[in-house]
Formats: sequence, C-alpha cells, structure tokens
Amino acid sequence: MKRLTNKHIVLGVTGSIAAYKSADLVRKLVAAGAEVRVIMTPSATEFITPLTMQAVSGNPVHQALLDEEAEAGMGHIQLARWADLVLIAPASADSLSRLVHGRGDTLLGAVCLAASSPLAVAPAMNQAMWKDPATQENVATLKERGLHVLGPAEGEQACGDTGPGRMLEPDDLAREVETLFDTGTLAGVKVMVTAGPTQEAIDPVRFISNRSSGKMGYALAEAAAEAGAEVLLISGPTSLQTPDRVQRVDVRSAEQMYDAVHSDVEGYNIFIGAAAVADYRPIEAKASKIKKDSDTMSLEMGKTEDILASVSALKHRPYMVGFAAETDELEANARKKLEAKRLDIVAANQVGEDAEGKPLGFESDENTLTVFWQGGSEAFPYMSKSQLARALIELIASRYRNEHNIIRPESFG
Ligand code: PMT
Repeated sequence: MKRLTNKHIVLGVTGSIAAYKSADLVRKLVAAGAEVRVIMTPSATEFITPLTMQAVSGNPVHQALLDEEAEAGMGHIQLARWADLVLIAPASADSLSRLVHGRGDTLLGAVCLAASSPLAVAPAMNQAMWKDPATQENVATLKERGLHVLGPAEGEQACGDTGPGRMLEPDDLAREVETLFDTGTLAGVKVMVTAGPTQEAIDPVRFISNRSSGKMGYALAEAAAEAGAEVLLISGPTSLQTPDRVQRVDVRSAEQMYDAVHSDVEGYNIFIGAAAVADYRPIEAKASKIKKDSDTMSLEMGKTEDILASVSALKHRPYMVGFAAETDELEANARKKLEAKRLDIVAANQVGEDAEGKPLGFESDENTLTVFWQGGSEAFPYMSKSQLARALIELIASRYRNEHNIIRPESFG
C-alpha cells in the first residue's frame, strides 16, 4: 500500500506563477495513493486552467463558494469534512493574509475555516514580498495556530530576482505531505491489531463467517503505524492490501487467530481487537464434502476461545482496546464487555442495516463509534474509517500515555 493511500487531500491553488507546478503536484500526490480534490481561486485560473487540474486529479475542480450544483454534491462543508488535509500550494502572500484574518468569502477560505483536518501552506511569492514584515508576521501567526508551513525554497525567481520565496518542488512537497500524517504519538510503542472475519470450516468447501471486511482493523493498523508504532496485524481473510510499515500475519479460523495472537503478544504494549471473531464454530469439520441427501441438516456448534479476554488475563497484559458490535442497547452492552473482558477501552459500533438496507459498521467505508472507558466516553460522528481510525488512535495514545505517565516528546508538537 502506498504512503498516501486512503488519504483525502483538498488542494487549494491560489494566484501565483508557481500554479503551473500544481498540476505536477497533484500527479505526485495521486501517484502516492491520495485522492485529491482541487479548489482554485479566481486568480489561480489566470495561471492554469481548471480543465488541466480536473484531468490530473480525476475530479471536478471547485471554484465558487455558492454553487447550486456543488452544494447539492460537494459544497464547502462536505469538502471540509471530506479532507484529511487541506494544502494550499501555491499559497500567495494574499492567501496567507486572508488565512490569518479568517476570511470566509471565498470557497477556499470557507473550507479552511470549516475543516478540522490539519492545514498546510506552500508559500510562493517574490523574495521581497516574502521578506516583508507583514508576510513574516502572518507566517508566524499561522505557525502559532498549528498550520504547517512547507518551504519556501530559495533560488532564482520568475521575476528575475534571487532569494527565498520559490514554491517547493512537487517531489519535495509530496514527500513533506507524507510526513504530515506521521504524528509520532505512539513512537516506540508496539501495537497488535486483529482485523477481519474468521472462517469456521464445516467441510473442505464450506464455512461459517460474517460480514467483516477488515476495513476498520486495517485502518487502525495504518493509523497506528503513522503514529510511529511498530504494528503487527493479525488478519482474517480479506481482500485488503497490507498498510505501509505494517507487518501482517494471515489466519483463517478463530483458533488460528488465537494461536497467532498468543505466539507473539508478549512484549506488545497495546492490543486492539477489531476482528469479528466467530463466537461459535462447528464442533467437527467433516473431512469430505457433505452431500445434500436430506432436506434438513444441523450442525453442532461449540464456543470459540475469547481472544480478547484471554489476552486481558495475561500477567503482563498490554493496554487493552476491544470492540463491541451491537444491534441493541449500545452503551449497556459495550460497558458489559468493558467489565467482563477487563478492557481499558471499548469502541462500540451499531451494526446491522440502516432503513435503506445499507450495512452499518460492517463492510462500509464509513462508520461511527462511541468509545467507553471507566468513568468516561467519547462519541465519534459518522466519517470515513480512515479518519475514525486516526481519531481513535489519538485517543488510545493519549489515554495510554496518561496511564503510563509517559510525557509526550516536545518535538511532536
Ligand atoms: O471489518 P469491517 O467491515 O470494517 O467492520 C468493522 C467491525 C464492525 C467488524 C468492527 O468495527 C467491530 O465492531 N469489530 C468487532 C466485532 C465483534 O466481533 O464484536 P463482538 O461484540 O462480537 O466482540 C467483542 C470483542 O471481543 C471484539 O473486540 C472481538 O474482536 C472480541 N472477540 C470476540 C469473540 C472471540 N471469540 N474473541 C474475541 O477476541
């Protein structure tokens, strides 16, 4: 899997000669796995056409703040919610000043105000404009607010001057963008994640399973790796690619998952059980294919070992995060699991189907979670499983550090 797979990037292009490099930047981001949606300011369209940006991003380009068609499809609030990162490249001196003042009178300004994702700017302007105290003050203010300022580079400029103010080259910017997702909040921590369904054999060709796609667990493994953790993913059968920097062990049945977890779990600091492990399995898997000679058939089922509870019971147990997939009484059932399996955190999701028959929790690319712990809870609204995973990993990291009195290194900001 590529470093920016599953990442949604809103790229704001503002009026600067460096706008011609934005097309190449989009190509680099897309090649690294990102999905990119472009917003162009009116002056940006003087330097490069929306058609070019549409062709390289593969998505319609957004320009107007109030656009009836866009509002019905992807208006400014949807774009802001969709974004995992808003990057303005090139960011003109004027756009930096607008950001400082929180101007919401353009689509780009409104998206920046509404986005809860990180914001990054790649300044591009004449060297004298960059050195001007007003620009320097604006940049300092934006940095103080947590904005990432990428560049500028020094060198020869389009106007003939030489000095600081050139936009970073697309290759360098794409690399910087990749590292923006690396939070470092779990640096030095070992995390084991289970994901996907298990398959319990009935005979050599049939099995009992469930609707888990593995998306939630894989997203958690990816987010933990981005947070700097060493991650081992124990996966039931899925069609997903292994996230970058994640080690994966494939299993089929609940028993195999139990064995894989226990053969490696020693030394792990955090255990996240996102797999939908079968609670029961056929007591006997037939050696030959069962013939359909009778009108009915019955299977005798036996309980599987509870993997989560067994890891919790270890003497040197990791910090325990379980999931609860519930169709009814979400909080009551989730809190029961928190107690019964001696968990530190339980992430509960409503599963089944919504009124239109769309899957909830299982299979879908989006989900919503309510996380419970002793004496507290936090609800995460409906969002992509990638965004949800990053938010959950940050919560886990912060509660894990608190409990282990680990001070977050300054460098992680
Ligand atoms: O994979 P996706 O399609 O993305 O869907 C995500 C998900 C719905 C599978 C995920 O969000 C989720 O809820 N995972 C847990 C599903 C589940 O089995 O829940 P449960 O309430 O039955 O089990 C509670 C906990 O015990 C879970 O952490 C489970 O991993 C664990 N368990 C259950 C049985 C068992 N034998 N061993 C276990 O470790």
